[in-house]
Amino acid sequence: MPSNTPRIGIVGARGAVGTEARSTLSQREFAADSIVCFGSARSEGTHVLYGSDSLTIQPMNSIANHELDYILCCADAQAAREVANSLHGDSTTIIDNSSAFRADPDVPLVIPEINADLLTPHTRLVANPNCSTIMMLRALDPIRRTYGIQRVSTTTYQAVSGAGRTGIEELHRLTRAYLNEQPAKSSVFPVSCAFNVFEHESAIDPETGFNGEELKMISETRKIWGLPDLSILPTCVRVPVERAHAQSVTVDLEHPACLTSIGEALRTHSIRVLEPGDPLTPHDAAGGDDVIVGRIRIDPDSQSRRVTLWICCDQIRKGAALNAIQIMECLIEQRHGSKKEHTPGVACAEEQNRKVLA
Ligand SMILES: NC(=O)c1ccc[n+]([C@@H]2O[C@H](COP(=O)([O-])OP(=O)(O)OC[C@H]3O[C@@H](n4cnc5c(N)ncnc54)[C@H](OP(=O)(O)O)[C@@H]3O)[C@@H](O)[C@H]2O)c1
Repeated sequence: MPSNTPRIGIVGARGAVGTEARSTLSQREFAADSIVCFGSARSEGTHVLYGSDSLTIQPMNSIANHELDYILCCADAQAAREVANSLHGDSTTIIDNSSAFRADPDVPLVIPEINADLLTPHTRLVANPNCSTIMMLRALDPIRRTYGIQRVSTTTYQAVSGAGRTGIEELHRLTRAYLNEQPAKSSVFPVSCAFNVFEHESAIDPETGFNGEELKMISETRKIWGLPDLSILPTCVRVPVERAHAQSVTVDLEHPACLTSIGEALRTHSIRVLEPGDPLTPHDAAGGDDVIVGRIRIDPDSQSRRVTLWICCDQIRKGAALNAIQIMECLIEQRHGSKKEHTPGVACAEEQNRKVLA
């Protein structure tokens, strides 16, 4: 049984999500016995910060030797499968941020505020949902519980950091080149992300025309809510924003709603709700823990059954690293009954962006 001051491994500790995992654990003053960082062969032996401590990136082939209680896997799907295959026995729990295990019916896909009940003391592998799915469902779940949802339609406005560190670097490089009227080629995205808007870069399914991100939003929403036939129509788009995604979401409800009770339902479930007229942008969410909702409107021609929302959320934090850490906290609580109050994230985009690039 893992200790309640666990040994934690972070795979991909230098990446966008891995960096956020380090800073979130450190900011929450997480009681860990040890933090061990791993990365690709490129970064073995280099150093990363954990609070004020400097940690050395360990080789991946040593991961089984560290007797870790939890591994926060913040690398791609192939690396995640390798990590899962390299561990034997049942002493380590993997919480994976990639898409490797999300569709596996035997692996819980968890947003703790919604379906933490899927976690048990015996859970050894948990999948963290896609970032756009996490922020949308966090905002919609209180509405679903109160009114029932028949249909979801959404357009995302996704930050370049959703593609990792290199997405941020590409936005900086191409923006400088554009402003200096210099030629520059895209390498992370199929077209220039500077001063541009384009459909999500994931592969298009030739049969349906949906891109991979849209298909993830559909299948993961259905799995998390246990509604395999729910109608969901996403359009996923990249915008030249460094950090934090925005989404416009419209839902058809089973029962009529009113603005006051929608706001109450959201606030009751710890969603930050802005007053009408208050501007909400990704900058307001960047670096913080909150899912923020603004511009709640009811379609006047829908008999109060169609509601539209504008949502912003730091997709590296609640959409990835924080959600994974909350899953780990739930498991620790189940296994040891220890619960700790945490310092909420501060909305300081500049500081957090510096950390991503550090
Ligand atoms: N960025 C987001 O907003 C977001 C949101 C939700 C989920 N995710 C998912 O989270 C995961 C990490 O994304 P990211 O944005 O942090 O990407 P990233 O910035 O590109 O970082 C990926 C990290 O994975 C490491 N890595 C690559 N191959 C590896 C291997 N074979 N063994 C060990 N480490 C390896 C890299 O290590 P080196 O630095 O050593 O090369 C790098 O640090 C991905 O699965 C992504 O889909 C990302």
